[in-house]
Amino acid sequence: MTVQTISDYQGYFLEYLSEKTLEKEPKNLYEPISYILNLGGKRLRPTLTLLTAEIFGSSYKESLDAALAVEIFHNFSLIHDDIMDDAPLRRGKETVHEKWDINTGILSGDAMLINAYQLFENYEGETFRKLAKLFTKTAIEVCEGQQYDVDFETRDDVTIDEYLKMIEYKTAVLVGAAMQMGAIIADASEDCASSIYDFGRLLGLAFQLQDDYLDAFGNPETFGKQVGGDIIENKKTFLYLKAIEFSSKEERKQLEGLFSLNPEDPSEKIQMVKDFFESTGAKERTRLEIASYTQKAFDVLEAISISSEKKNVLRVFGEQLMNRSV
Ligand code: IPE
Ligand code: IPE
Ligand code: MG
Ligand code: MG
Ligand code: MG
Repeated sequence: MTVQTISDYQGYFLEYLSEKTLEKEPKNLYEPISYILNLGGKRLRPTLTLLTAEIFGSSYKESLDAALAVEIFHNFSLIHDDIMDDAPLRRGKETVHEKWDINTGILSGDAMLINAYQLFENYEGETFRKLAKLFTKTAIEVCEGQQYDVDFETRDDVTIDEYLKMIEYKTAVLVGAAMQMGAIIADASEDCASSIYDFGRLLGLAFQLQDDYLDAFGNPETFGKQVGGDIIENKKTFLYLKAIEFSSKEERKQLEGLFSLNPEDPSEKIQMVKDFFESTGAKERTRLEIASYTQKAFDVLEAISISSEKKNVLRVFGEQLMNRSV
């Protein structure tokens, strides 16, 4: 069986999403939910669920509810993440807590998390059990990753290994799980399910590194989020950790100094930090790291016993992610 293109799956997902998002009462609970779900976004995770289901021989239609659960969970995590990161912009529009308020963001987010769980009720028996188990494990890891991310803001001794664990949990495991769900629905072997999880996880690591890169070096006209947001929040990203590592003693003191400040007008801090990222070689090093994790994902893919045509769809997708600007 041949698989369709990424944009076909994206289209099927969008159609299903619009069928399923109803505006119910109370308005103040459900309006923010349909607002965030209809803001756009790349739909990366659900697209991967549909594609993976077909790669392992099922119909994408069987995996629509799991894909929707993953996208709703992702959007829930974004609402709460934007509160935690004090972010004003999401997908080029006001964040939920800015447009409404923090309490609205908390409760609408909670309802989305519950709704995501509910969608797995559409699966039976062993498939349900496996999906729910994977989802629960993943969701708790995302919380752990998010807590590390916040804890690191006020620490000045974060290591690269700690950073990698943090992004694995907050971001990469969900990409892996989105793919493994497709494999579970298609009743693929344990071996295939775990290899495709690993592929997604490695791609997810590259994806978060790229997210950090764009947060500093993205084009504010098109990025859709506040450029420099991580610098404002003193996030210990790969860019920052490598800049520290590659700095002279004097530069290091300056950079650490900048990351202990929370100025009213952050524009000067952002520019100075970006200059450090560039001059120390951290920017370039981050590009290499993104390519290296993408390659690791491709190596895992190579060993999976699926047709080279199917591998190619995933490889092209991985390459596009690495070169994205949003
Ligand atoms: C943003 O995810 C949060 C991260 C884990 C980096 P995406 O970049 O997938 O966001 P959307 O859904 O496309 O807007
Ligand atoms: C978010 O990481 C990860 C989750 C939402 C779980 P970021 O904080 O880097 O995501 P963005 O940059 O706000 O999208
Ligand atoms: Mg954020
Ligand atoms: Mg965050
Ligand atoms: Mg980010």
